[in-house]
Amino acid sequence: MPGPEVIVADITTLDVDAIVNAANTSLLGGGGVDGAIHRAAGPELLAACRALGGCPTGEARITPGFQLPARWVIHAVGPVWQGGGADEPALLRAAYRHSFALAREHGVVSIAFPAISTGVYAYPKDAAAAIAVDEMRTQAGAFERIIVCCFSESDAEPYRRLLAP
Ligand code: AR6
Repeated sequence: MPGPEVIVADITTLDVDAIVNAANTSLLGGGGVDGAIHRAAGPELLAACRALGGCPTGEARITPGFQLPARWVIHAVGPVWQGGGADEPALLRAAYRHSFALAREHGVVSIAFPAISTGVYAYPKDAAAAIAVDEMRTQAGAFERIIVCCFSESDAEPYRRLLAP
């Protein structure tokens, strides 16, 4: 059972069963990785998301990937960082856990995650990486590939450190 892999890439280009989106509670798109995924998947993705009627923070929903190489998009809603006293760690962990549960239910064996909540939502990057890696290690036995897809080398650094042998 291989451990999580860290790569630096645009997540919309990955040929995996599922990519995870860092969405918001409306599921109706936005900036960052969410905007990139909607642009690459095409307008059918927005229509599919609209039909879902939103998603609470700490949960996830699944849609097809439409024009993406990935078969599925799992839309996870991470917390907005508010200083750490608003249950942010548990909500971030729950967003990863719900994403993995949906993936397993849909037969996904390869999955790629962005660094949920660490962009616009301002979650401290090292603390977010520690939670992500912990959840990924817990799930490793159920997947062939778990990929952490960072947008820059500096974003990848905490993951590389945590995953170093
Ligand atoms: N591929 C991989 N990672 C990316 C890409 C990409 N194409 N684009 C950005 N990132 P963010 P959040 C990285 O802000 O903090 C949206 O408006 C980015 O560098 O996308 O969870 C939603 O609609 C950062 O490391 O997500 C929500 O309203 C990481 O993805 C809100 O932002 C997450 O940054 C969610 O904020």
